Amino acid sequence: MAIKLNDKYLKYFLSDEEQNSQIIWDRARNAYDKIINKTGEGSEMLGWASLPEDYDKDEFAKIKAAAEKIRGNSKAVVVVGIGGSYLGSRAAIEFIKSPLYNNLKKDTPDIYFLGNSISSDYLSEVKSICENQDFSVIVISKSGTTTEPAIAFRILRGILEKKYGDNVKDRIFVITDKNGQKSKLKALADLKCYETFVVPDDVGGRYSVLTAVGLLPIAVSGADIDKIMSGAAEARKKYLDFDKNNDCIKYAVLRNLLYEKGKSVEILVSYEPAFTMMNEWWKQLFGESEGKDKKGIYPSSVIFSTDLHSLGQFIQDGARIMFETVINIKEPQNKVKIPPDSEKIDGMGYVDGMMLDEVNYKAMLGTVIAHTDGGTPNMIIDIDKRDEKTFGELVYFFELACALSGYILEVNPFDQPGVEGYKINMFALIGNPKYAKEKEEIEKRI
Ligand code: PA5
Repeated sequence: MAIKLNDKYLKYFLSDEEQNSQIIWDRARNAYDKIINKTGEGSEMLGWASLPEDYDKDEFAKIKAAAEKIRGNSKAVVVVGIGGSYLGSRAAIEFIKSPLYNNLKKDTPDIYFLGNSISSDYLSEVKSICENQDFSVIVISKSGTTTEPAIAFRILRGILEKKYGDNVKDRIFVITDKNGQKSKLKALADLKCYETFVVPDDVGGRYSVLTAVGLLPIAVSGADIDKIMSGAAEARKKYLDFDKNNDCIKYAVLRNLLYEKGKSVEILVSYEPAFTMMNEWWKQLFGESEGKDKKGIYPSSVIFSTDLHSLGQFIQDGARIMFETVINIKEPQNKVKIPPDSEKIDGMGYVDGMMLDEVNYKAMLGTVIAHTDGGTPNMIIDIDKRDEKTFGELVYFFELACALSGYILEVNPFDQPGVEGYKINMFALIGNPKYAKEKEEIEKRI
C-alpha cells in the first residue's frame, strides 16, 4: 500500500494517553458510524464513499471514448469549471504527469483551465492561445448555474461556433446535473446536442474527482483512469474498517486533537512542485467541508524547500497556531545525480555524486525536526510515487478523512452555506433582478 502515516514526531505535543483517549476515539467511532450507516447531517451526499467500486461503467466507457475523440481532433482543450469542478483534474494532471505538462513533448493536447476566476486578462490569454489551433471545450458545473464558468463558456462557445459551424458538437463536452430543469447548462447542451456526462446527485463538487468531472480531463492527458479507480478501490478496502491502526481514521483523530490544543491552522507540505495543485484540491476539500459554524482548522499549504525561504520563517518562529502534515513522495519520476565540481570552487564538495532526491529527503527530515523544535507539530504521510494508483488512493484517503474529521468536529462536511454570501452581493451588484433590494443596500455601503 502506497500511503503510510508516520506520527512519531507528534510525541512532543501529544502524549500516548492523549492520542489514545477514550473520548476522542468514541467521537471518531461516532463519526465513522455516521458515514457507514448514513445517519449524519448531509448523508444524502455520501455517494463518493462507494464510488471506487460502485460507479456507472457505461459512463466510464463514454468518458474514455470522449477523451480519445478529443485527443484525436484537438491540439488543446479548455476545461471550464470552478472549485470542485476543476481542482481535482488539474491536481491529477500535475501530480501524475507534470506541472509543466503543457510544455512537455507529447502526443496529447495541451490542457488549459478557465472559468475559475473572473479575470479578463487570463481569459484573453487562454483565448488567444487556443483560437488559432484545433481545440475543444469541456465545461463542468454540477449546478449548471455558476457565474464564472458560465461566462467563460459563453465566450468559448462563440469562438467554437464561428470556427467549426455545425461541427461544434464534436468539440463541446458538458458535465453537469442530469436534470435540465435544475441545470441551465444541461438545458443548453440538450438544445445544442452536445455530449453530456452526469455528476451524480449524491456526490458534491469537492468530492467529485472520481466522476466524469475529474476523469474526462484526466483521461485527455493520457493518464490511466482505470488505475486511478483501482487505487481508490484499494484505499476504500483498507480504510473502511474501524481500527485504531487505520491511518485514515488516525489522521482525522490527530488533527482534531491538535485543534483542541489551539493548533487551528494545518499546513499541507510537499517537497515536490508537482503537488502544488494537490495542495489546492486538499484546501478546498477541507476548507469547504470543515470551516463553518465558527469552527474548523484553516487549511493552508506550502511547497518546500521553495517556501522555506519565505513562510518557513513564520512556521519556525511565528505565532504557534499551526501544525504541518508533510507529504513525503519516496520515489521521484526522474533521478538526478549531482556532478562533481571539477574546479572545486563552489565549496560544496560534500554533495558530489549525491542524488538530488536524497538531498530533498534530508531537507525534509531536517525541517521536520527544526519545526518540531520550534513548536510546530509535524506528522508525515509517506507515499510511494507520483502515479495514477497513488493519486486514487490519496483522493480516497483525504475524502474519507475529511468526512470523518468534519463529523468529529460536529459540522456537516457536505454543505457550503458560506459560499452564498459573496454570490448574493455579486449578483446584486451586477444587476441580477432577483437581488434588486440587496443592490440598494450594498451600494449604500460602498
Ligand atoms: O464543492 C463544491 O460543491 C463547490 O466548490 C463547487 O464545486 C463549486 O462551487 C462549483 O460549483 P458548480 O460545479 O455547481 O459550478
